[in-house]
Amino acid sequence: MSLAVRYYDDPVTCANYVKDRRKYPICIFNTILDYIKERKDTPISGRFLLAVDVGCGPGVTSTSPLSPYFDKVLGVDISEAQIREANLHNEFDNIEYKVTRGEALPLDDSSVTLVQVATTLPFLDHEKFYRECDRVLVPGGVIAAYTYSCQDFRVIGLPNACELSEIMNEISERVNSNQNPDSSDYNLMTIRKYTDPCLQIRFPDRKRIENLYMTIHSTVNGFIQFHLSVPFIRNYVNSCGETMAWWKSCEERMMEAYGTDNPEAPLTYQMEVYMLLGRKS
Ligand SMILES: C[S@@+](CC[C@H](N)C(=O)[O-])C[C@H]1O[C@@H](n2cnc3c(N)ncnc32)[C@H](O)[C@@H]1O
Repeated sequence: MSLAVRYYDDPVTCANYVKDRRKYPICIFNTILDYIKERKDTPISGRFLLAVDVGCGPGVTSTSPLSPYFDKVLGVDISEAQIREANLHNEFDNIEYKVTRGEALPLDDSSVTLVQVATTLPFLDHEKFYRECDRVLVPGGVIAAYTYSCQDFRVIGLPNACELSEIMNEISERVNSNQNPDSSDYNLMTIRKYTDPCLQIRFPDRKRIENLYMTIHSTVNGFIQFHLSVPFIRNYVNSCGETMAWWKSCEERMMEAYGTDNPEAPLTYQMEVYMLLGRKS
């Protein structure tokens, strides 16, 4: 069984995902739409025909925001549990969800304007996936693959922002690095910010975008819970002994640096988003 299925076919993980992940900011979708429009005029209806969101998860983070810009959006995920959550939370008539691998899309040749892959690219079989994109995309159609960096959290609007950011980055470094024996190739590709050759979009017309930021309005405890929504981090934290003791101290250290004894104290921070864009000729 693949890593992704093991991680994401657990209903608890999927329910936590909906609760603890944040929607991507509008600047991401504007960047993608501007790139599409460089070659494709916006149709008279004001919307493009079809987008597919590969590895859509529960849909609320990456699929729903596409709804206003496309006549139809298809969210696909290999995990039945994620698609169950996506259907439960779907509020849009033009969005449909299906359990399907991203490498074998149930779509006609040359029918799709956008293939989006949010925080999923490393999981895929890249040769097969990019071949499938080439098949389903219309000429001028676009692949947009993006995720966020968990290495440089920047707290904003608090007097001790620097100290808090340092603690948050130390927490993230430990749970994401190879101090965590469960840290996978998938995670390393993310840590290397999608620079691995195997991840690069195969179309000659392509570019890389950095310096987009998502601002997260959360709480001290929300930051901790966000990490627990990542399956391999949750496994690591739940391993006993020293790790568990360290993890339990993390929230307290954050509260001390913040100057609060309330775990629900508001915490606003930024995370960098990076994106690969490519266009079929
Ligand atoms: C980190 S989640 C991303 C969810 C959502 N796109 C987001 O950005 O919040 C990765 C998702 O990719 C799915 N996935 C992994 N391998 C896949 C594959 N080969 N085809 C389709 N989905 C896959 C997993 O089941 C999981 O739901």
